[in-house]
Amino acid sequence: MAKRVLEKYRPINVKGYVYVGKGSISMIPKICKDEGWERVLLVIDPGVLKAGGADGIIKIVESAGLAYQIYSEIKPNPLQSDIEKIGLKMYREMKADAMIAVGGGSAMDSAKGIAMIGESDKTIDQIEPILFNMASNAPCPWKTYPMICIPTTCGTGSEVIRNAVITDAKGHKMVPKHDCILPQYAIEDPDLLATLPAHVAAATAMDALVQAIESYVCRAATEFSEMCALRAVELIGPNIVRYVRNPAEEDAADAICRGAMFAGFSWNCASIAQIHASNHPITELLHISHGDACAILLPWFVEWNGENKKEKFWKVFNAMWPTEMVAYKDFDLDIMVKKLMKLNYDLNIMNNMTMDEYAKSRGIEGGCPDELCDRIIDMQFAGRDLPSYPRKTSDDEMKKALRDVNHGKYIYKPAE
Ligand SMILES: [Fe+2]
Repeated sequence: MAKRVLEKYRPINVKGYVYVGKGSISMIPKICKDEGWERVLLVIDPGVLKAGGADGIIKIVESAGLAYQIYSEIKPNPLQSDIEKIGLKMYREMKADAMIAVGGGSAMDSAKGIAMIGESDKTIDQIEPILFNMASNAPCPWKTYPMICIPTTCGTGSEVIRNAVITDAKGHKMVPKHDCILPQYAIEDPDLLATLPAHVAAATAMDALVQAIESYVCRAATEFSEMCALRAVELIGPNIVRYVRNPAEEDAADAICRGAMFAGFSWNCASIAQIHASNHPITELLHISHGDACAILLPWFVEWNGENKKEKFWKVFNAMWPTEMVAYKDFDLDIMVKKLMKLNYDLNIMNNMTMDEYAKSRGIEGGCPDELCDRIIDMQFAGRDLPSYPRKTSDDEMKKALRDVNHGKYIYKPAE
């Protein structure tokens, strides 16, 4: 694998239009009219569709007189085969002008999969390496399909990000990345976050928080990405517990919704660090959700990288807990680690179980022995000591970290 280096000049990459705020789904007819879109494929998460979470959007589409069909054969980790054989086929057969994706990362990633194939005769696994070897802003050689993305969870920021996660026939997660899959429009409407089950609200909000913190402290951060990341932490940190306990509380849902958007912008203009670099096999092998996997690694992440970016972690601390602001001279990384452990406890992340206990509770025979931790790191992390990490991290150091997480080192234990 070619060694990656950080480019000296990193662009501010903001494209597309983002509508934000309560009731902003009402902008759909105007967007379609302005673009001349008359036929749309609605790509809707099946759970959201079943629970009626997309009813308001379908009604708006109908009232606007748009022709539409619904594609909702979407798995939690969307499959290349579903996208190509069902979603893309529907788009082409109905001669759609655009897509409207409604749901979490899986629905938006499915739409991105359809978009990236567009009018080419290639498959996603053939396109992924082509995009990987192109500059993100280089014109795509074929016509891709446009989309509006409307998140109904608060975590991925996918609606303002130019990558997707799609699972191939062997169960491997591909991460195509290019401007051609950056949505033309995003709509961030907090009303859509009001009915999330608590564990989904907790995991997805923690995903957004981790994306903000990772991008803020990583070595690829820019002034623009830092500004977005810190704003995301300011919005998510003080509101996350209140939001998870009552997702219908409007102020809290609004703050989380906007925080996730800023986390997405920061992510799009910076890079990942150790948490997202080791995340996919955890979700693949242990049936742990992406957001949960982010949350359980966060205390370790602060402990491991803390001294290298201490001033930045201090700023994150004060943004997270503004009523407990400390001067830099009094900032204690250990206290921050403990507060993040307590946050996971308050949010009941993975029912406060270790990875091993949680995997067993989900019917995974054998749970998560130490050898599996090592395999997880080998699968995703080996040779990926990326230049964006705040602290250089070898595979062995990452294996020890995951074993420590697995043994419950970062699980908060309340005093008896
Ligand atoms: Fe994430």
